[in-house]
Amino acid sequence: MERLQKIIANSGFCSRRKAEELIKQGEVFVNGRQVNDLGEKASYSDQITVSGHNLKLENKEYILLYKPRGVISTTSDEKGRKTVMDLVDTTNRLYPVGRLDYDTSGLLILTNDGELTNLLIHPRNGVEKVYVAKVEGAVSSFLIKKMCAGVMIDGKKTARAKAKIKKIDKKKNFSLVELTIHEGKNHQVKKMFEAVGYKVIKLKREKFGTLDLSGLKSGEYRHLTIKEVKTLYALTKKMV
Ligand code: URA
Repeated sequence: MERLQKIIANSGFCSRRKAEELIKQGEVFVNGRQVNDLGEKASYSDQITVSGHNLKLENKEYILLYKPRGVISTTSDEKGRKTVMDLVDTTNRLYPVGRLDYDTSGLLILTNDGELTNLLIHPRNGVEKVYVAKVEGAVSSFLIKKMCAGVMIDGKKTARAKAKIKKIDKKKNFSLVELTIHEGKNHQVKKMFEAVGYKVIKLKREKFGTLDLSGLKSGEYRHLTIKEVKTLYALTKKMV
């Protein structure tokens, strides 16, 4: 049993706040009974109707997390380190869509929708991911171009990528490079820079497909809206 507004929000129909408004306005029915109390609980097997729409409650949950550094993106860790699951309040068994390294921050989707997960991580679908890397030294545009044309990592050439040099600080001896890739090999960004002689000191994923981190601080999360989930599905289907 969970609070009705939480179930509605988790279904992706609308935000929790909007769900609370709709409950107060008498727009919500549980098994045909109107509910006006914000404290009311229901279960995912109940038929919930909001503004005349029957919610399809397959208990699918989609979370967009701003993963901080120093958190592992698996659901458990044998060394007892903090995991991404420690950062979200859910009763579902969620899994990350792909991985971010322990020392990488940024956008990570957590869901129990296996179909969407597979579509999003399948190399064939090539969903765009945008990273900002802080790299040791002053990068050369020649080497960055070379990296984008494709470099060998783990015996395979990487696909074409896009890069923008955002800053070169010669005094402090670092550069900031925005890198857009469509693959998701293990430690791909760090290895791509390494392949042209650069060391990544800090890494953040800023975008994943159509999603970005706006409105979130490190460690915070929100649920995706149904529109965002549909857009992610459409994105992968279009690319097949
Ligand atoms: N590339 C990396 O090297 N690390 C990440 O966490 C993600 C992409």
